[in-house]
Amino acid sequence: MKKMLIDDVDLKQLRAFLLVAEHQSFSHAAKVSGLSQPSLSRLVRQLEQVLDLSLFDRYQRPLQLTEAGQFYQQKLQTILLELEQASLLAKNLASAKRVLNIGFVPSVLYGLLPNVVAKMRLDFTSLEIYLKDISSYQQVSALKAGEIDVGFGRFFQEDGDIRQILLRHEVYTVALPNFHPLAQKSVLKIADLVNENLILYHQTHLPKASGVGAGMGITEPLLHIFSRYGITPAQTTRVNDLQVALGLVAGGLGVTLVPDGLKTVRPKQIAYVKLLHENATSPIYLYTLSSPKPEVRQLLEVVYQIYEDRGITYRKQQI
Ligand code: BEZ
Repeated sequence: MKKMLIDDVDLKQLRAFLLVAEHQSFSHAAKVSGLSQPSLSRLVRQLEQVLDLSLFDRYQRPLQLTEAGQFYQQKLQTILLELEQASLLAKNLASAKRVLNIGFVPSVLYGLLPNVVAKMRLDFTSLEIYLKDISSYQQVSALKAGEIDVGFGRFFQEDGDIRQILLRHEVYTVALPNFHPLAQKSVLKIADLVNENLILYHQTHLPKASGVGAGMGITEPLLHIFSRYGITPAQTTRVNDLQVALGLVAGGLGVTLVPDGLKTVRPKQIAYVKLLHENATSPIYLYTLSSPKPEVRQLLEVVYQIYEDRGITYRKQQI
Protein backbone atom coordinates (compact mmCIF):
# COMPACT_ATOMS: atom_id res chain seq x y z
CA MET A 1 0.00 0.00 0.00
CA LYS A 2 1.25 3.50 -0.86
CA LYS A 3 2.61 5.35 2.16
CA MET A 4 0.52 8.37 3.05
CA LEU A 5 1.45 11.60 4.72
CA ILE A 6 -0.92 10.84 7.60
CA ASP A 7 0.59 7.40 8.28
CA ASP A 8 2.93 9.02 10.80
CA VAL A 9 0.22 11.21 12.36
CA ASP A 10 -1.62 10.01 15.42
CA LEU A 11 -4.80 11.15 17.07
CA LYS A 12 -2.96 12.49 20.14
CA GLN A 13 -1.01 14.93 17.95
CA LEU A 14 -4.18 16.11 16.22
CA ARG A 15 -5.98 16.60 19.54
CA ALA A 16 -3.01 18.51 20.97
CA PHE A 17 -2.96 20.78 17.92
CA LEU A 18 -6.70 21.51 18.13
CA LEU A 19 -6.46 22.22 21.87
CA VAL A 20 -3.62 24.69 21.52
CA ALA A 21 -5.28 26.35 18.52
CA GLU A 22 -8.52 26.74 20.45
CA HIS A 23 -6.85 28.25 23.53
CA GLN A 24 -4.22 30.22 21.55
CA SER A 25 -1.71 29.23 24.22
CA PHE A 26 0.30 26.12 25.15
CA SER A 27 0.03 26.89 28.87
CA HIS A 28 -3.80 27.31 28.82
CA ALA A 29 -4.22 24.19 26.74
CA ALA A 30 -1.98 22.32 29.20
CA LYS A 31 -4.10 23.47 32.15
CA VAL A 32 -7.47 22.42 30.67
CA SER A 33 -6.22 19.12 29.25
CA GLY A 34 -4.19 17.99 32.24
CA LEU A 35 -1.22 17.30 29.94
CA SER A 36 2.11 18.95 30.64
CA GLN A 37 3.15 21.89 28.48
CA PRO A 38 6.28 20.06 27.21
CA SER A 39 4.11 17.09 26.14
CA LEU A 40 1.75 19.36 24.20
CA SER A 41 4.69 21.16 22.56
CA ARG A 42 6.26 17.84 21.62
CA LEU A 43 3.01 16.49 20.07
CA VAL A 44 2.45 19.66 18.02
CA ARG A 45 6.05 19.75 16.85
CA GLN A 46 5.85 16.07 15.79
CA LEU A 47 2.77 16.92 13.73
CA GLU A 48 4.51 19.89 12.11
CA GLN A 49 7.46 17.65 11.26
CA VAL A 50 5.29 15.03 9.61
CA LEU A 51 3.38 17.67 7.62
CA ASP A 52 6.57 19.58 7.03
CA LEU A 53 5.06 22.99 7.77
CA SER A 54 4.49 25.43 10.66
CA LEU A 55 1.01 25.39 12.14
CA PHE A 56 1.64 28.26 14.58
CA ASP A 57 3.43 31.58 14.29
CA ARG A 58 5.28 31.28 17.58
CA TYR A 59 6.48 34.90 17.56
CA GLN A 60 2.97 36.35 17.98
CA ARG A 61 1.25 36.84 21.36
CA PRO A 62 -1.36 35.56 21.83
CA LEU A 63 -0.26 32.59 19.82
CA GLN A 64 -1.53 32.77 16.19
CA LEU A 65 -2.20 30.03 13.64
CA THR A 66 -0.44 30.32 10.31
CA GLU A 67 -2.63 30.33 7.19
CA ALA A 68 -1.93 26.59 6.73
CA GLY A 69 -2.67 26.11 10.45
CA GLN A 70 -6.07 27.82 10.13
CA PHE A 71 -7.00 25.72 7.12
CA TYR A 72 -5.87 22.53 8.90
CA GLN A 73 -7.81 23.41 12.09
CA GLN A 74 -11.09 23.91 10.18
CA LYS A 75 -10.77 20.73 8.13
CA LEU A 76 -9.69 18.67 11.11
CA GLN A 77 -12.66 19.76 13.23
CA THR A 78 -15.08 18.57 10.54
CA ILE A 79 -13.22 15.32 9.94
CA LEU A 80 -12.97 14.42 13.62
CA LEU A 81 -16.66 15.18 14.12
CA GLU A 82 -17.50 12.87 11.21
CA LEU A 83 -15.19 10.19 12.56
CA GLU A 84 -16.90 10.40 15.94
CA GLN A 85 -20.35 10.17 14.33
CA ALA A 86 -19.31 7.25 12.11
CA SER A 87 -17.93 5.41 15.15
CA LEU A 88 -21.12 6.02 17.10
CA LEU A 89 -23.31 4.91 14.20
CA ALA A 90 -21.28 1.75 13.71
CA LYS A 91 -21.53 1.02 17.42
CA ASN A 92 -25.31 1.55 17.42
CA LEU A 93 -25.68 -0.62 14.34
CA ALA A 94 -23.73 -3.46 15.89
CA SER A 95 -25.67 -3.32 19.13
CA ALA A 96 -29.07 -2.65 17.50
CA LYS A 97 -31.66 -4.90 19.08
CA ARG A 98 -33.27 -7.27 16.64
CA VAL A 99 -36.98 -7.38 17.32
CA LEU A 100 -39.76 -9.49 15.85
CA ASN A 101 -43.37 -8.57 16.57
CA ILE A 102 -45.74 -11.44 15.92
CA GLY A 103 -49.53 -11.10 15.71
CA PHE A 104 -51.65 -14.20 16.15
CA VAL A 105 -55.23 -15.35 16.53
CA PRO A 106 -55.77 -17.24 19.81
CA SER A 107 -56.53 -20.56 18.10
CA VAL A 108 -52.99 -20.86 16.63
CA LEU A 109 -51.66 -20.74 20.17
CA TYR A 110 -53.06 -24.26 20.55
CA GLY A 111 -51.30 -25.30 17.36
CA LEU A 112 -47.57 -25.02 16.85
CA LEU A 113 -47.05 -21.34 17.62
CA PRO A 114 -45.47 -21.99 21.06
CA ASN A 115 -43.04 -24.48 19.45
CA VAL A 116 -42.19 -22.00 16.70
CA VAL A 117 -41.49 -19.19 19.18
CA ALA A 118 -39.44 -21.46 21.45
CA LYS A 119 -37.27 -22.61 18.52
CA MET A 120 -36.79 -19.03 17.28
CA ARG A 121 -35.58 -18.02 20.74
CA LEU A 122 -33.21 -20.96 20.84
CA ASP A 123 -31.81 -20.45 17.33
CA PHE A 124 -31.62 -16.62 17.46
CA THR A 125 -30.69 -15.77 21.03
CA SER A 126 -30.22 -12.04 20.43
CA LEU A 127 -33.68 -11.68 18.86
CA GLU A 128 -36.40 -10.15 21.01
CA ILE A 129 -39.82 -11.60 20.24
CA TYR A 130 -43.11 -9.95 21.15
CA LEU A 131 -46.50 -11.60 20.74
CA LYS A 132 -49.76 -9.77 20.17
CA ASP A 133 -53.17 -11.44 20.31
CA ILE A 134 -55.09 -9.87 17.39
CA SER A 135 -57.78 -11.03 14.93
CA SER A 136 -56.83 -12.14 11.39
CA TYR A 137 -58.56 -9.10 9.94
CA GLN A 138 -56.83 -6.60 12.27
CA GLN A 139 -53.45 -8.14 11.49
CA VAL A 140 -53.57 -6.52 8.03
CA SER A 141 -53.78 -2.97 9.40
CA ALA A 142 -51.27 -3.83 12.15
CA LEU A 143 -48.80 -5.01 9.47
CA LYS A 144 -49.29 -1.83 7.43
CA ALA A 145 -48.87 0.35 10.54
CA GLY A 146 -45.63 -1.48 11.43
CA GLU A 147 -47.12 -2.72 14.73
CA ILE A 148 -46.39 -6.31 13.80
CA ASP A 149 -43.83 -7.80 11.37
CA VAL A 150 -45.69 -11.02 10.76
CA GLY A 151 -49.10 -12.45 11.58
CA PHE A 152 -50.64 -15.89 11.89
CA GLY A 153 -54.33 -16.17 11.16
CA ARG A 154 -57.01 -18.40 9.74
CA PHE A 155 -58.36 -16.41 6.78
CA PHE A 156 -57.29 -15.55 3.27
CA GLN A 157 -56.90 -11.75 3.17
CA GLU A 158 -58.06 -9.88 0.11
CA ASP A 159 -55.37 -7.22 0.15
CA GLY A 160 -52.78 -6.71 -2.58
CA ASP A 161 -50.24 -5.24 -0.14
CA ILE A 162 -50.16 -8.36 1.98
CA ARG A 163 -48.07 -11.40 1.19
CA GLN A 164 -49.69 -14.53 2.58
CA ILE A 165 -48.53 -18.07 2.76
CA LEU A 166 -50.85 -20.98 3.42
CA LEU A 167 -48.95 -23.05 6.00
CA ARG A 168 -51.30 -25.97 6.49
CA HIS A 169 -54.90 -27.04 6.98
CA GLU A 170 -55.97 -28.09 10.46
CA VAL A 171 -59.02 -30.37 10.63
CA TYR A 172 -62.06 -29.32 12.62
CA THR A 173 -63.18 -31.45 15.59
CA VAL A 174 -66.62 -31.41 17.24
CA ALA A 175 -66.63 -30.07 20.81
CA LEU A 176 -69.57 -31.31 22.93
CA PRO A 177 -70.39 -31.34 26.66
CA ASN A 178 -69.06 -34.57 28.17
CA PHE A 179 -72.53 -35.70 29.19
CA HIS A 180 -74.01 -35.21 25.68
CA PRO A 181 -75.22 -38.51 24.11
CA LEU A 182 -73.18 -37.77 20.93
CA ALA A 183 -70.02 -37.59 23.07
CA GLN A 184 -69.94 -41.41 23.10
CA LYS A 185 -69.53 -41.60 19.31
CA SER A 186 -66.08 -42.08 17.81
CA VAL A 187 -66.87 -40.04 14.73
CA LEU A 188 -69.62 -37.54 13.82
CA LYS A 189 -71.08 -36.05 10.64
CA ILE A 190 -72.25 -32.46 10.31
CA ALA A 191 -75.77 -33.86 9.80
CA ASP A 192 -75.59 -35.36 13.33
CA LEU A 193 -75.47 -31.81 14.73
CA VAL A 194 -78.62 -30.52 13.02
CA ASN A 195 -80.66 -30.31 16.26
CA GLU A 196 -77.95 -28.62 18.30
CA ASN A 197 -77.28 -25.05 19.37
CA LEU A 198 -74.14 -24.25 17.37
CA ILE A 199 -71.86 -21.78 19.14
CA LEU A 200 -70.20 -19.37 16.68
CA TYR A 201 -67.05 -17.52 17.73
CA HIS A 202 -65.23 -16.25 14.62
CA GLN A 203 -64.66 -12.49 14.46
CA THR A 204 -63.45 -12.56 10.86
CA HIS A 205 -65.79 -13.85 8.18
CA LEU A 206 -64.98 -15.48 4.86
CA PRO A 207 -64.89 -13.22 1.80
CA LYS A 208 -68.25 -13.40 -0.01
CA ALA A 209 -66.69 -14.71 -3.24
CA SER A 210 -65.39 -17.83 -1.50
CA GLY A 211 -68.91 -19.30 -1.14
CA VAL A 212 -69.18 -22.10 -3.64
CA GLY A 213 -72.10 -24.43 -4.21
CA ALA A 214 -74.21 -24.94 -1.11
CA GLY A 215 -72.08 -22.47 0.90
CA MET A 216 -72.82 -19.58 -1.46
CA GLY A 217 -73.27 -16.27 0.35
CA ILE A 218 -72.70 -17.63 3.88
CA THR A 219 -69.59 -16.00 5.27
CA GLU A 220 -69.56 -17.17 8.91
CA PRO A 221 -66.95 -19.97 8.77
CA LEU A 222 -68.83 -22.62 10.78
CA LEU A 223 -72.19 -21.94 9.12
CA HIS A 224 -70.35 -22.10 5.79
CA ILE A 225 -69.19 -25.64 6.60
CA PHE A 226 -72.69 -26.65 7.70
CA SER A 227 -74.22 -25.21 4.53
CA ARG A 228 -71.77 -27.19 2.38
CA TYR A 229 -73.52 -30.31 3.72
CA GLY A 230 -76.98 -28.75 3.28
CA ILE A 231 -77.47 -28.33 7.05
CA THR A 232 -78.76 -25.33 8.99
CA PRO A 233 -78.33 -25.80 12.76
CA ALA A 234 -81.53 -25.62 14.85
CA GLN A 235 -80.12 -22.72 16.87
CA THR A 236 -76.99 -20.58 17.01
CA THR A 237 -75.34 -18.47 19.73
CA ARG A 238 -72.68 -15.90 18.84
CA VAL A 239 -69.78 -15.10 21.18
CA ASN A 240 -66.61 -13.09 20.68
CA ASP A 241 -63.91 -15.68 21.14
CA LEU A 242 -63.02 -19.29 21.14
CA GLN A 243 -62.41 -19.58 24.89
CA VAL A 244 -65.89 -18.23 25.63
CA ALA A 245 -67.34 -20.68 23.08
CA LEU A 246 -65.62 -23.58 24.85
CA GLY A 247 -66.81 -22.24 28.20
CA LEU A 248 -70.40 -22.43 26.95
CA VAL A 249 -69.85 -25.95 25.62
CA ALA A 250 -68.40 -26.95 29.03
CA GLY A 251 -71.53 -25.52 30.65
CA GLY A 252 -73.75 -27.65 28.40
CA LEU A 253 -75.14 -24.67 26.43
CA GLY A 254 -74.30 -25.96 22.96
CA VAL A 255 -71.73 -27.53 20.64
CA THR A 256 -69.12 -26.09 18.34
CA LEU A 257 -66.36 -27.01 15.89
CA VAL A 258 -62.77 -26.17 16.79
CA PRO A 259 -59.42 -26.69 15.08
CA ASP A 260 -57.96 -30.02 16.20
CA GLY A 261 -55.21 -28.40 18.30
CA LEU A 262 -57.83 -27.17 20.77
CA LYS A 263 -58.85 -30.63 21.92
CA THR A 264 -56.72 -30.41 25.05
CA VAL A 265 -58.85 -27.56 26.47
CA ARG A 266 -61.14 -28.44 29.46
CA PRO A 267 -60.88 -32.21 28.90
CA LYS A 268 -62.92 -32.96 32.06
CA GLN A 269 -65.97 -31.10 30.78
CA ILE A 270 -65.64 -31.29 27.01
CA ALA A 271 -65.57 -34.29 24.67
CA TYR A 272 -63.86 -33.83 21.32
CA VAL A 273 -65.13 -36.10 18.58
CA LYS A 274 -63.51 -36.55 15.17
CA LEU A 275 -65.46 -35.11 12.25
CA LEU A 276 -66.01 -37.51 9.37
CA HIS A 277 -65.47 -34.83 6.70
CA GLU A 278 -61.72 -34.45 6.26
CA ASN A 279 -62.14 -31.41 4.07
CA ALA A 280 -63.80 -29.48 6.92
CA THR A 281 -60.58 -27.72 7.80
CA SER A 282 -59.32 -24.44 9.16
CA PRO A 283 -56.29 -23.09 7.28
CA ILE A 284 -53.32 -21.44 9.02
CA TYR A 285 -51.83 -18.51 7.10
CA LEU A 286 -48.69 -16.50 7.62
CA TYR A 287 -49.21 -12.83 6.67
CA THR A 288 -46.49 -10.31 6.08
CA LEU A 289 -45.65 -7.32 3.88
CA SER A 290 -44.12 -7.91 0.41
CA SER A 291 -40.55 -7.13 1.55
CA PRO A 292 -40.38 -8.32 5.13
CA LYS A 293 -37.37 -8.11 7.44
CA PRO A 294 -34.96 -11.07 7.32
CA GLU A 295 -36.28 -12.36 10.65
CA VAL A 296 -39.64 -13.16 9.00
CA ARG A 297 -37.89 -15.42 6.47
CA GLN A 298 -36.03 -17.07 9.35
CA LEU A 299 -39.37 -17.58 11.11
CA LEU A 300 -40.85 -19.29 8.04
CA GLU A 301 -37.81 -21.58 7.83
CA VAL A 302 -38.31 -22.52 11.50
CA VAL A 303 -42.00 -23.33 10.82
CA TYR A 304 -41.00 -25.60 7.94
CA GLN A 305 -38.32 -27.30 10.05
CA ILE A 306 -40.91 -28.06 12.73
CA TYR A 307 -43.27 -29.46 10.07
CA GLU A 308 -40.41 -31.66 8.76
CA ASP A 309 -39.61 -32.92 12.28
CA ARG A 310 -43.26 -33.79 12.92
CA GLY A 311 -43.94 -35.26 9.50
CA ILE A 312 -46.58 -32.61 8.73
CA THR A 313 -47.34 -32.27 5.02
CA TYR A 314 -46.78 -28.75 3.67
CA ARG A 315 -45.98 -26.99 0.43
CA LYS A 316 -42.79 -24.95 0.77
CA GLN A 317 -43.07 -21.33 -0.35
CA GLN A 318 -40.59 -18.46 -0.31
CA ILE A 319 -41.24 -14.94 0.87
C1 BEZ B 1 -49.21 -24.37 13.10
O1 BEZ B 1 -49.91 -24.84 14.02
O2 BEZ B 1 -48.95 -25.00 12.07
C2 BEZ B 1 -48.63 -23.00 13.27
C3 BEZ B 1 -49.23 -22.10 14.13
C4 BEZ B 1 -48.67 -20.83 14.27
C5 BEZ B 1 -47.54 -20.49 13.59
C6 BEZ B 1 -46.96 -21.39 12.72
C7 BEZ B 1 -47.49 -22.65 12.57
